[in-house]
Amino acid sequence: MSIESGEDLAGVAAAGRVAARTLALMLGRVRPGITPFELNRIGAEEMRRSGARSAPMVSVDFPAETCISVNSAVAHGIPTREPLGPGDLINIDVSVELDGYFADTGASVPVDRDDEALARLCATGRAALGRALGQVRSGGLLSELGRAAERVALDAGYDVLRDLCGHGLGRALHEEPGSILGYYDPLDRRRMSDGLVLAIEPFVSTGARRVRTAADGWTLLTEDGGVAVQFEHTVVVTSRGALVMTAERPFLAGSDPAFAELAA
Ligand code: CO
Ligand code: CO
Repeated sequence: MSIESGEDLAGVAAAGRVAARTLALMLGRVRPGITPFELNRIGAEEMRRSGARSAPMVSVDFPAETCISVNSAVAHGIPTREPLGPGDLINIDVSVELDGYFADTGASVPVDRDDEALARLCATGRAALGRALGQVRSGGLLSELGRAAERVALDAGYDVLRDLCGHGLGRALHEEPGSILGYYDPLDRRRMSDGLVLAIEPFVSTGARRVRTAADGWTLLTEDGGVAVQFEHTVVVTSRGALVMTAERPFLAGSDPAFAELAA
């Protein structure tokens, strides 16, 4: 959708706040011994408390309130009852619907925060998102987002999953424009218009470019069994840059001190 009124902006901001709080709460509980099932329960409770609904449940009948993907599972993971352990990498993706507006956010974290290799991969994924958000502005080419994200990944010795993309959203979880790439495609000539609502989510992998669907029909796995990380924000395109909506309150990417660090 494109923001057309103060009501639209407040609506996406309210959904974004719930999604951000839910994700932060869940990430804060990640530690060895906890199960994805338990993390999902915590997230579901927060959504319910906030009057929001799980967007994947509402939109595609996903069998849980949040997507929790572990290790070579990179997206659409169904929360399992298998306890997390040191060495595991977890991605939590939270998308919600609140009063008819949608917001989508996600992040990856090593279960053992001292795991240097996984921490470096996560830092790179975070930076890839930050750099992509730095390319957002009214009139700009969508392909610049993928170019920036891919550059960060390649410079750090990683790659980008090509099968998974960002997307428009707002009145539904997935809207036009579809397929906002995490890599550069010079043939993609689409431009960003003022007020457009986008979920930006590059996936940085240790080498995989493709994914396959697991036997459960939902979970997406890297083709090579390696790991990948995803960081996602819902933003509004403005002439001054990306207005990040999946936060306690909306802020312009680059203007927030915590975010400047994220994009560094
Ligand atoms: Co998401
Ligand atoms: Co998304």
